Amino acid sequence: MRNYKRILVTSALPYANGPLHVGHIAGAYLPADIFVRYCRLKKRDVVYICGSDENGVPIMLRARAEGVSPQVVVDRFHKMIEESFTKLGIHFDYYGRTSSEMHKETSQEFFRNLNAKNQFITKSEEQLYDPEAKLFLADRFIFGECPRCGYDHAYGDQCEKCGSTLSPADLINPRSSITNATPVKKETTHWYLPLEKIQPELEAWINSRENWRPNVMGQIKSWLDAGLRDRAVTRDLPWGVSIPEEIAENAGVESKGKVLYVWFDAPIGYISATKEWAQKIGDAELWKTYWQDEETMLVHFIGKDNIVFHCLIFPAMLMKHGNYVLPENVPANEFLNLEGQKLSTSRNYAVWLHEYLEKFEPDSLRYSLACNMPETKDADFSWSEFQARHNNELADIVGNFVNRTFTFIQKYYDGRLPQPDTFDALDNEVLQQIKNAGENIGTAIEAYQFKEATRHFMDLARFANKYFNDKAPWKTRKDNPAVCATSLHLCTRVAYALAILMQPVLPFTAKKIQNLLNLGDEHLASWDNAQEFPLEPGHVFNQPEIIFTKIEDERIQAEIDRLKTSNAEDKTESDESTFEQITIDDFARVQLRVAKIINAENLKGAKKLLKLQVAIGEEKRQVIAGIAQHYEPEELIGKHVVVVANLQPAKLRGELSEGMILAAVDKDGGLCLVAPEKKIASGAVVR
Ligand code: MF3
Ligand code: ZN
Repeated sequence: MRNYKRILVTSALPYANGPLHVGHIAGAYLPADIFVRYCRLKKRDVVYICGSDENGVPIMLRARAEGVSPQVVVDRFHKMIEESFTKLGIHFDYYGRTSSEMHKETSQEFFRNLNAKNQFITKSEEQLYDPEAKLFLADRFIFGECPRCGYDHAYGDQCEKCGSTLSPADLINPRSSITNATPVKKETTHWYLPLEKIQPELEAWINSRENWRPNVMGQIKSWLDAGLRDRAVTRDLPWGVSIPEEIAENAGVESKGKVLYVWFDAPIGYISATKEWAQKIGDAELWKTYWQDEETMLVHFIGKDNIVFHCLIFPAMLMKHGNYVLPENVPANEFLNLEGQKLSTSRNYAVWLHEYLEKFEPDSLRYSLACNMPETKDADFSWSEFQARHNNELADIVGNFVNRTFTFIQKYYDGRLPQPDTFDALDNEVLQQIKNAGENIGTAIEAYQFKEATRHFMDLARFANKYFNDKAPWKTRKDNPAVCATSLHLCTRVAYALAILMQPVLPFTAKKIQNLLNLGDEHLASWDNAQEFPLEPGHVFNQPEIIFTKIEDERIQAEIDRLKTSNAEDKTESDESTFEQITIDDFARVQLRVAKIINAENLKGAKKLLKLQVAIGEEKRQVIAGIAQHYEPEELIGKHVVVVANLQPAKLRGELSEGMILAAVDKDGGLCLVAPEKKIASGAVVR
């Protein structure tokens, strides 16, 4: 890594349309906050920027559903999110929002700049439009019958039933999922970032990157291998940053309702928030140094779903604008699961930050997530592990060590720092361990290895706790007071070092220890101080207070129970946003029955489809099934399977299909038919 003069750190701007959960924190915020706190302690010139992402379709739809304006929605969540960050100790230099005037100006300026340099292409085409909502419809907001499998709720981009990739024009009887209206075609013009053309430049830059995480590089390479496609950077929406009027006019386009695509303006939010920060600290031009001087190291912390935007698209925008630094690294994290299942906001299967903070300490979560950060692969948050980390590590190791040290000093040294005598080998080892910990934690943090950094910190606390045991001051107090005083002196030295070295991960606990030590901020504000010791024998400490009380089983059980009653995921890994809860009566409307396959043949001209004749009891039916790539017709004859018997008949490729055969489908495209587990007569009801 080059030796940069200053560091600009960003965390992905959270969408202001819902509260934060632990997955967000583990992904983009805690690692950045640890990194920044460490940089501050190292006295580096560092600025940490974030803000709310307040544009985009989901925010608009939420506002519609609530019958309020989008501004009302984003105001509410902006406030809530900012408050949660503060309580968790995620400390930004500035937390902005993309509905601000500064953001509008900055994004429009960016757009103007690229436009003036001819960096866009425009395309006019017909798109589907919801005449009732008066909205152009994104592919996801159109549904209809799948032309491949007949499923009646396929989306404009994909059928969730058979997995086929679709475009809205493929759907039979398409409808708007906002109003249920039939979309009409309407001509519209959009501005595109010609990524196809920019790809070689991006590729050269990516190849020059060093020390990027393999999982990040892997994802980038697969985008590049597939070939980048030009991306529309405008949308037809009533909410967002409108495109500059004169540009619309020159293109002969109505500017009203034409806005920047949310992924175009959101990363520019980092820049506009930096401008607002500079204004706030009274040096309005200072933002330029951070964004435009080559001596700035720019680091984006994000979750893996944001990789393409931060590693390819935003850098392409910055390159084409010129004058901007590009990220030195993008240490994206993988995902965090919850008790072995995917987090799901729509099903309320999550640990919500604002709820957590009402019940537990911020540092317990910070520690538990730092130990368990999804750095190289998806990780799992479980309440029992959280409890164990808190009780067995924070309380039993850190808390216990600090508490026994200062209780002992209160009791036998009148609350004053004892005078040390000569050091033996183990005493010298204490100093060595402090030094090693400072270096090891620092090296790990600089390499974005936060799990490892946290481990090194706890190792030091563990060593200190053992040192206290080995020195047994409760014995030496009587038979060797000099040794006793030396060991207690060294224990306070470790406590002091811990109070510095824990700050990136445990800022609140560090404050408590600082208070115990009875020391001013200046003594704890530098990483390298950990190896020194500012206190003279006789220094008076404050009365010890318990730093961590244990978390009882009942409190943990209550959280686990709450998750169980939320709509936990079923075993199929289907898109979390697709399914809502249904009642038993809803389910009873689906008639499932056992059928025997009596004949099977390929369907001409349809690679995926088989034509099956089945018997459901006495009744014979024809079913067209999209399983040709998984089964040979011969092997199916005689098999018992499960069919949806009351599905409206449909024509597929001109053939009548009177039912649907159930199959299990996994993420990787594997498919197997669902069959009765024992022999049972065809026609039997499945329920
Ligand atoms: N709001 C986006 C998300 O939550 C992240 C935006 S990051 C930015 O996925 F770069 F666009 F700001
Ligand atoms: Zn389908």
